[in-house]
Amino acid sequence: ASYGFIDSLISVMTLDEKIGQMTLYTSGWDTTGPTLNDQYKVELKAGRVGALFNAHTVAYNRELQRIAVEETNLGIPLLFGYDVIHGHKTIFPIPLAESCTWDLDLIRETARLSAKEATASGLNWTFNPMVDVARDPRWGRVAEGAGEDPYLVSLIGAARVRGYQGDDLKDPYTMLACVKHFAAYGAAQAGRDYHTVDMSDRVLREIYLPPYKAAIDAGATTVMTSFNEIDGVPVSGNKYLLTEILRDEWKFDGFVVTDYTSINEMVPHGIVADEKEAASLALKAGVDMDMQGGVFNAHLGTLIASSEIKEEEIDKAVRKVLMLKERLGLFDNPYLYLDEQREKEVLFSSELMDHALEVAKESIVLLKNEHFKGQPVLPVSKDVRNIAVIGPLGDNQLDLLGTWHASGDVSKVVTLLEGIRKVVPGAKVTYAKGVGFYDHDAGNIQEARKVAASADVVILALGENYLQSGEAASRASIDLPGQQNELVKAIMGLNKPTVAVVMAGRPLTIQQLDEQVPAILNGWHLGTMAGQAIAEVLFGVHNPSGKLTMTYPRSVGQIPICYSMKNTGRPFAANNKYTSKYLDESNEPLYPFGYGLSYTSFEYGDLIVNKTAITTGETLNIKVTVKNTGSRQGSEVVQLYTRDLVGSVTRPVKELKGFEKITLAPDESKTVEFSLSTDDLAFYTRDMSYKAEPGEFKVYVGGNSAEVLTAPFSLVE
Ligand code: IFM
Repeated sequence: ASYGFIDSLISVMTLDEKIGQMTLYTSGWDTTGPTLNDQYKVELKAGRVGALFNAHTVAYNRELQRIAVEETNLGIPLLFGYDVIHGHKTIFPIPLAESCTWDLDLIRETARLSAKEATASGLNWTFNPMVDVARDPRWGRVAEGAGEDPYLVSLIGAARVRGYQGDDLKDPYTMLACVKHFAAYGAAQAGRDYHTVDMSDRVLREIYLPPYKAAIDAGATTVMTSFNEIDGVPVSGNKYLLTEILRDEWKFDGFVVTDYTSINEMVPHGIVADEKEAASLALKAGVDMDMQGGVFNAHLGTLIASSEIKEEEIDKAVRKVLMLKERLGLFDNPYLYLDEQREKEVLFSSELMDHALEVAKESIVLLKNEHFKGQPVLPVSKDVRNIAVIGPLGDNQLDLLGTWHASGDVSKVVTLLEGIRKVVPGAKVTYAKGVGFYDHDAGNIQEARKVAASADVVILALGENYLQSGEAASRASIDLPGQQNELVKAIMGLNKPTVAVVMAGRPLTIQQLDEQVPAILNGWHLGTMAGQAIAEVLFGVHNPSGKLTMTYPRSVGQIPICYSMKNTGRPFAANNKYTSKYLDESNEPLYPFGYGLSYTSFEYGDLIVNKTAITTGETLNIKVTVKNTGSRQGSEVVQLYTRDLVGSVTRPVKELKGFEKITLAPDESKTVEFSLSTDDLAFYTRDMSYKAEPGEFKVYVGGNSAEVLTAPFSLVE
């Protein structure tokens, strides 16, 4: 089939059939809002539905596809979408956790395998990647993204798109990706989900937009609008974003789908008086498909009849949807993704489970490892006889799957307790939950203390449950929820070697934990193989190498906080009251962006830049030597940052410009090289042109954003 085929198809479609292609309904499985249309099968038969979401499994989707193909007038096949966010049945770490691997090949492979499993289950469209830059950990959806830095989020978003879509969409193992939530959904005021976003065009373009652009440049075929407004206009009705930027500037040629009922939500937003007006505004702004709201179906016909919109506007949207159905191979074979035999072979296959373990291990971040009686607490010796696991995440399957775990199978999750028993089969491992995740679930701290009292080592399994992060899961306090801090205090009174494993969907404010516990592992929500992965790190089978992609604040009052802040006119100075600071809190985070320890140590030296000055078009070569100065092999993410000291507008104190993950044997050294072009120094200048400005710069290289070596250079005209 060619473009001509699509055009002839459109020429024979009724208006209702066209609007149907612009309509996406949930099939009535899981929903994240009210199901407005439980009559979707009736509409499907009438040719008024072009795509369904939340329907999966071959048998279920095959029947729906059969209705579309055999019982509708034109037999146009359906698209099947689903939130395959970090796996479909086999669940990988939450995306924020996975970003801490800084390993783009691994990340792409996760997306490839997710697509392989999801397409085997009858799906051909995932609502991922989420590339919303997020700097406020109160916002529950930080779990679904790749952290705070636009450069890193861009690379990771592009890797995920490539993984899902592969090289050829007709390959039935690949699926459409959907970049979301366009745009700046992560900047909701006060971290409250769905809240207002208000920012300058400069910040929008410099910090928030680049990852969406990178994902589109990587070939992303669909884009989802965000729930928020920007500059007073909700995104699903925002022509500046959906047409001027997305289509005119970026040349995006796929289709734009709204988020769930977000056209309807323009009424409570107060930008339109009713849903008919909302439908018109959305179409004119550049929306092609209405997710679940039913407003296109309800009102576009009337709007055409009254000449408020033109049929050509509808044809444009329909064409984009049909083109992607064609690119997926659905017109050649509507049942391409509906193969029962393949479904049996692929789900939970060893390729998926092995990858789930590998990526979970790589996602773990070692936050602290101090000595207890002269020995680092971690790794725990495999000869230890008596281990107590204490806390609400110790013997827990569901919560380790994390938010948006698609149709992840809870029964397959390896708990922390099981993981430990497998890694140290000779040890006696006892467990007490202690407390739950809510204040009212006070549990039994005394019993937990008793269990811990007889152990040689205590593992505290702390954090959030899977509902405490994700969509509509903003938190005003991001402390360990419930009475977990009381549990920690009681256990620490025993004076045992103790490790805290924090499993959560966001950075938490764990200052109190940090003050009390000598060793802390950030175990996020790591998915199906979580318990095994954490146990391998606890007992040194695997040496952790994850690095934070979101700053850990000390307290909630510091939020929003990130490494790339501005200097201000009164940067912090000790003993000077009138500098930018808090009376009751340090400006410094608890753990900075890029931070993560290892069981070995790395020394950075010999930072060399090959020139002291470059001109436009030239490249700076930066070399640094990294040595493994500890006693075991380990991996390290070597990070490159720059600072532009004086600009026509103020510049951040640091910006990530490159990184390389290396593995070194004990005593081994490696020289890591980066090249920095003048394009890498570009930004939106005072007049909003995007370019590098001559002047003085610094490069910084190190193992995190705070501990760095530095060298100067200049850009001359
Ligand atoms: O994809 C999601 C989106 O991220 C939030 N609202 C619902 C959509 C579909 O489930």
